[in-house]
Amino acid sequence: MLTLDRLADLTDADRAAAAALGAIVYPPADHAHWPGRHLEWDTPEWCVRVHDGGAIVSFAGVYLRDATLDGTSVLVGGVGKVKTHPAARGRGFAAAAVRRAGEFFEAHGAAFGLLVCRAELVAYYERLGWREFAGRLIVRQRGEATDFTLNGAMALAVRADAPAAGTIDLCGPPW
Ligand SMILES: CC(C)(COP(=O)(O)OP(=O)(O)OC[C@H]1O[C@@H](n2cnc3c(N)ncnc32)[C@H](O)[C@@H]1OP(=O)(O)O)[C@@H](O)C(=O)NCCC(=O)NCCS
Repeated sequence: MLTLDRLADLTDADRAAAAALGAIVYPPADHAHWPGRHLEWDTPEWCVRVHDGGAIVSFAGVYLRDATLDGTSVLVGGVGKVKTHPAARGRGFAAAAVRRAGEFFEAHGAAFGLLVCRAELVAYYERLGWREFAGRLIVRQRGEATDFTLNGAMALAVRADAPAAGTIDLCGPPW
């Protein structure tokens, strides 16, 4: 079962289950070495959750952000914190969650979607229709504009084409 909800509407038990999935996928000991741990990240306003046999097996954070592309205002959809329980991988759960996020972007009038990911996952997201964004990605860290260089970025065509170059300013923290 796949659902998209506002994070604030989840019950405490649902929130705890999502956090428990996060701790399984990203054990705290590993997190201590993650190069992005010092960055300020946004909290998703919505999330897609996939349940199998009553248990949450996959999660994707969903964002909408008033941003700019080459100085022009643009509504950008975001996907982040994508994770699937190790025992439930390879069954298309994350793909379904990311596709659902794309439908949400379309329904809300986003121009394009944006995500950041490790290089090893670029081919995976390409299979889901995302394209590498080779331009400059500006984010805010504690209010200060700064280039995002931790990972590469990928964009998804929604109401407009997916930008491959240029400057995107997320006007806020990354996701
Ligand atoms: C990446 C992840 C979310 C995929 O979840 P999933 O539900 O198994 O995804 P799908 O079933 O839709 O697709 C599986 C495909 O993802 C790709 N994939 C997953 N992890 C990968 C990795 N580390 N490197 C390269 N490709 C990978 C593979 O193509 C895989 O196909 P395969 O099972 O035939 O090998 C899951 O592996 C995960 O939680 N990983 C750890 C957290 C993470 O890296 N999240 C992504 C942040 S952008």
